This record gives sequence, structure tokens and C-alpha cells, in this order.
Amino acid sequence: MQRLARQWQRRHRRVGFVPTMGYLHAGHLSLVQAARRRVGKTGQVVVSIYVNPTQFGPQEDLSRYPRDLARDLKLCRAAGANVVFTPSDAEMYPPAVGSACGDDRTAERTVPNSRFSTYIVEEQLSQAMEGAARPTHFRGVTTVVAKLFHLVLPDVAVFGAKDWQQAAIVKRMTWDLNFPVKIIVAPTVRAADGLALSSRNKYLNAAQRTQAVILHHTLQRARAAVRRKSIPAARLKADLEKFIASAPLARLDYLELFDPDTLTPVLTAKRGTQLALAVYLGPTRLIDNGQL
Ligand code: PAF
Repeated sequence: MQRLARQWQRRHRRVGFVPTMGYLHAGHLSLVQAARRRVGKTGQVVVSIYVNPTQFGPQEDLSRYPRDLARDLKLCRAAGANVVFTPSDAEMYPPAVGSACGDDRTAERTVPNSRFSTYIVEEQLSQAMEGAARPTHFRGVTTVVAKLFHLVLPDVAVFGAKDWQQAAIVKRMTWDLNFPVKIIVAPTVRAADGLALSSRNKYLNAAQRTQAVILHHTLQRARAAVRRKSIPAARLKADLEKFIASAPLARLDYLELFDPDTLTPVLTAKRGTQLALAVYLGPTRLIDNGQL
């Protein structure tokens, strides 16, 4: 992948990149289209499909995460991707190699009993919300995204707004570590009833799927509440928590009102405040967020 990316660089081709964990839906495809718009007809659009083990906690759904590579490849082709990069775990997290580090990694000897041992940790934005609920999650995300950036050498990378905190952390990492990559955050794509598209929606049974729309309705309720005036965040939070409890299959994990750039909680909710929430429907945990 890196050799190919270097060839593109030599030919002054712009590279747009969409990292994914596969099981693609219209949300992912909108990211591919956004990447294409950024790099133009002559640019190269790369989609990576890799279910990254380091961002899953021990009790999470790594082994049952949905996968369908044949279908994903067709969708990527139809959406106009030039390359789909599908590395294996052994390629992404190899044991150490001895002595010199060159380009031809296969020629090097692996160090016995060694394991992948270098991680990237963002220390500020990743503390709350998803970071608090899933303590090693963002360490896995920043590590794999940094590795993918080094392999794909993109000019532009596109992330979905549904994972607002992830996008903010990736932006911070890119800035802090001087990656020459422009991060684009593309709008969330929703089903007709408003549920944000997610590969994990597949886990929901019919009753859970019906009630999953509570996440979107919570956002709408919050928007309506601040439309005319600012209100204390604690009051709005209490109202929204009660609202979520009205869906019998829904169990709130967290709900936060915060500044969209700094991710710090706000005392007063107003237009422009960001709301993020995570809700369990049965064993399935869904997230959503939006600006009020
Ligand atoms: O948002 C995702 O699908 C993943 O967190 C990402 C960015 C592909 C890293 O594995």
C-alpha cells in the first residue's frame, strides 16, 4: 500500500482516504463520495476495511462484528473507490523485526516472543464519553488511524460526524503529530425514521429497531428545547434522560452536552451546543450526536 501511495505522490496525484471497519452502508459511501469530491477525477480514493482489534474492549463485539467483504468490495467499486486496502491482523500488528529497518519488511527476521508494543494515546479529548465508557477504545483508534495514514499517505481523510468525539481526537492527533492530512468530517446519514446508519444496527431485533429511533428523537427534543432560549444543561439533561427512559427497551449509557470543539461540558445548553449520547437496546450499544 505504501509503495503504491508513493508512486501516486511522485505523479502528483491527490489521495483521499476513508478508513472503515467494513460492513459498509450508505453512510460510508457518502464518505467515499466526499473523498472523491476533495481529490477530483484524477485523484485516488482509498477505502480501508479493517476490523481493528485494539479498539475493542475484552467484553465487546470484536468476534461477532459483522463482515461481508465481497459485498463491501462491490459497494466500493460502485461508489468510485480506486483501491480497497484490506490488511490482516498479522500485517497491522506484527511482532518486532530484528536490526535494520528497511522497506522490505518481509526480508527481516522477527524477534522471538516480541509483540506489537507502540501505541498512540491522545490524553485530553479522549477522557470523557466514549473514552470513559470504553477505556482502551481511543488508544486503539488513534494507533490504527496513525498506522493507516503512514501506509496510505493521504492528502485528505474523511470521517463521519456520527463519531464526533473520534473525529475530534483524530483531528487533534493529526495536528499534534504533524500529519500532512486534512481531516474532513462528513454529515451523518440517517434511515427514513432518523436512526443514524451504523453497522451495529444489524444486531437489533424488530422491537429494538423500532425503539432505536429514541436516539434521534432525543436530539430533536433537545434542539426544540433550546430553539428560543438557552437553558441550564442540568435541567435539559434530566428531561432528556426521563424521555429516554420512556422507551422500555432503551437503557442510557451516557448523555453529554458539550462544546463541539473542545468537548468540554457546558453549564448552559444553547444553539450550537453539541449533544452526544450512547444508548443500549438489549446488548447493542448505539451512539448518536448532533449540534443543537
Ligand atoms: O470509525 C471507524 O469505523 C473506526 O473507528 C476507524 C476510524 C475505521 C478506525 O478503526
